[in-house]
Amino acid sequence: MSKSSNAVSRRNFLSSVLATSSGLVLGNLASSSPLNAAGILDEPHAGGNSLSINIEDYPELKEAGGYKVLKEVAIGDMTDSIIIVRKSDTDFLAYSSICRHKKCNVKYKKERDLFVCPCHGSTYDINGKVIKGPSQGDIPKYKTKLKNNTLEISN
Ligand code: FES
Repeated sequence: MSKSSNAVSRRNFLSSVLATSSGLVLGNLASSSPLNAAGILDEPHAGGNSLSINIEDYPELKEAGGYKVLKEVAIGDMTDSIIIVRKSDTDFLAYSSICRHKKCNVKYKKERDLFVCPCHGSTYDINGKVIKGPSQGDIPKYKTKLKNNTLEISN
């Protein structure tokens, strides 16, 4: 074996050790707890087919009628933008916020209890069903479950 091929082998060895090490670090980060040192969820967290948020982190969700769009969050093995509506103290709704026409994010209109797309006016009822085009499809609903201040959203 020549000196140069020996050096290449050493370089390849070091590269694979570094790749393995960084994979372990990323793996540890991916499986780390979503709770901060105080035991509070500090950012949206995806795990399995669900996403959990601490509603205290979102002032928009403090009162009934408030809503929040979480843009491009991972939920299960997909990425979606999700609109969360607080209907009462304990009742939350969650839908994909992506309009089925040309993918703008819909807004919640509390006074009409509807979702309206600001781009071309598509309108969806509170069940996510399209009631006015140009959209031709409904916005998918997610399940929600509130436990203490943690809202779990799942598909
Ligand atoms: S993108 Fe929503 S109506 Fe066109």
